[in-house]
Amino acid sequence: MTVVFDTIFAAGQWVQTERAGGKTIGLVPTMGFLHEGHLSLVRRARQRCDRVAVSIFVNPMQFVPGEDFEQYPRAFDRDLSLLEREGVHAVFHPDVKEMYPLQPVTSICIGKLGELLCGGSRPSHFRGIATVVAKLFHILQPDRAFFGQKDAQQAIIVQKMVWDLHFPVKIEICPTVREADGLAMSSRNVYLSPHDRAEATILYRSLQHAENLIRSGISNASRIEQEMQEMIRAVAAAELDYARVVDPESLEGMRQIDGNVLVAVAVRFGKTRLIDNMMITAEKRERK
Ligand code: PAF
Repeated sequence: MTVVFDTIFAAGQWVQTERAGGKTIGLVPTMGFLHEGHLSLVRRARQRCDRVAVSIFVNPMQFVPGEDFEQYPRAFDRDLSLLEREGVHAVFHPDVKEMYPLQPVTSICIGKLGELLCGGSRPSHFRGIATVVAKLFHILQPDRAFFGQKDAQQAIIVQKMVWDLHFPVKIEICPTVREADGLAMSSRNVYLSPHDRAEATILYRSLQHAENLIRSGISNASRIEQEMQEMIRAVAAAELDYARVVDPESLEGMRQIDGNVLVAVAVRFGKTRLIDNMMITAEKRERK
């Protein structure tokens, strides 16, 4: 049976009971409108932990002014039945007043990591994410928390926050789940018109192109970035935000590829901004 909590108090009581019974807790934090990507995190959490909690909360603090906070797709009843089917034990579904009863004066400052890549066009986004994730960790006290590789920058920032602030939680990063044509699953894909949906495969195609170049021995990062940018700019509906080859720890750009790299793209289709990435390991390159 899946229990639903909309208060921090009720969630805390559940946590206490489970902990007293010696159960480990896995947390999958989400903003709802669930898809197979989220469900893959839930399945991993079910394998790794005795109890699985999923939070569904569209966090206003991670939307910058003018973004789609109000329009962000919400479908709680549908989400709940998907989670019941997956055997999720608890769903935490607070409203904004419950999570932010007062204007917060404290937040998690991320520094440079939050300014690079997506932080360039979404300045306070990662501060909002780190702050809400820290709150969720305090409320649900998970042993493990599960994030998708699709949001690579978010995953890296959460991992660093956990190390820096000694949260007693293990972060697990799970592979990106893709549609048959390669488009990474995202709740925002529903915004795309059929035409833009077809064109949106450019994100994955540009990543595959970068991977092929790297595997073929090209190590000049700016040449790879340029080729990706040209591919994306050739798609009429696509507006490039970035296509970068970066260090997977620092997210800083590089001249020569040496070791593991993260290739990351962000592209707008009208008002819809999509992201995707690929981690390319040194071994993968050497094999070629
Ligand atoms: O990835 C998301 O859905 C959100 O950024 C998260 C981690 C649930 C925080 O609001």
